[in-house]
Amino acid sequence: MTAKIITVANQKGGTGKTTTLLSVSGQLAATNHKVLIVDPDPQGNDATALGLSQEPGAFNLLVNHTQDPRQWVRMTGRKNLEIIPGDRSTASAQILLNAENRPLDAIRKALEPLLHDYHYIFLDTAPSVGGIQERAVFAADYVLIPTATEFLSSNGLMQMMVSLKYLAQRGWDGKLLGILPTFYDDSTTESHTTLEEITKEFGEAVLAPIHRATILRECAAEGKMVHEIDPLHRATREYATLMNYILQNT
Ligand SMILES: Nc1ncnc2c1ncn2[C@@H]1O[C@H](COP(=O)(O)OP(=O)(O)OP(=O)(O)O)[C@@H](O)[C@H]1O
Ligand SMILES: [Mg+2]
Repeated sequence: MTAKIITVANQKGGTGKTTTLLSVSGQLAATNHKVLIVDPDPQGNDATALGLSQEPGAFNLLVNHTQDPRQWVRMTGRKNLEIIPGDRSTASAQILLNAENRPLDAIRKALEPLLHDYHYIFLDTAPSVGGIQERAVFAADYVLIPTATEFLSSNGLMQMMVSLKYLAQRGWDGKLLGILPTFYDDSTTESHTTLEEITKEFGEAVLAPIHRATILRECAAEGKMVHEIDPLHRATREYATLMNYILQNT
């Protein structure tokens, strides 16, 4: 097997990147796909949300890139699901990457020794623009962009599209997997209007929305993934739909 690398990105904060990455990775792992989560975001939220400790795994992956990356991989206590956790030291890796002007494919190269161990490698990203985010997208076979169905969300999307174009001109040959509308609320015109606008602009790239759901907030607090708390919840089913889309389109 050769892993497909999926980077979840949006430079706008709080759009559901981490929640999406965890919910979909969890369900892929639960259906017998070997999945690795890599968290090069200094917030280190992936480990915390899985009930694990933050560690400088991502820092080591980026800085000690000539060493075997398997040593930074941790078990998550779930079958088929492993993680290279991050913590705030990742911010210093960002500085080093920039100072050393490391090539755009630095993260892709760092992950290469792991490619045959997994079906999917998911890269989370921090809500900002910088050397790590750029290289995380450059590493991707597919990019998934969660976007909140809120006014002004299209600004973040436009910026992401500009970044993808810029990277494609520099040799990135990955694809946009899709734009995932999040925090969708049937009862607000704000949600309807933004979803309509996004769909008008991006057409088929727009995936079925994920509704606003309190359970997704509780997940992070409890250190569990949504399918572990309630396998029948609408949020679990919506992320299962996303999982099936990923299985069919990657
Ligand atoms: N569909 C949803 N409904 C309700 N709450 C959600 C939903 N998706 C995510 N959340 C909550 O919103 C907050 C932000 O989500 P999350 O951390 O996934 O976003 P993010 O894009 O990764 O943020 P950051 O940019 O800081 O990394 C979290 O508290 C999360 O539990
Ligand atoms: Mg996040």
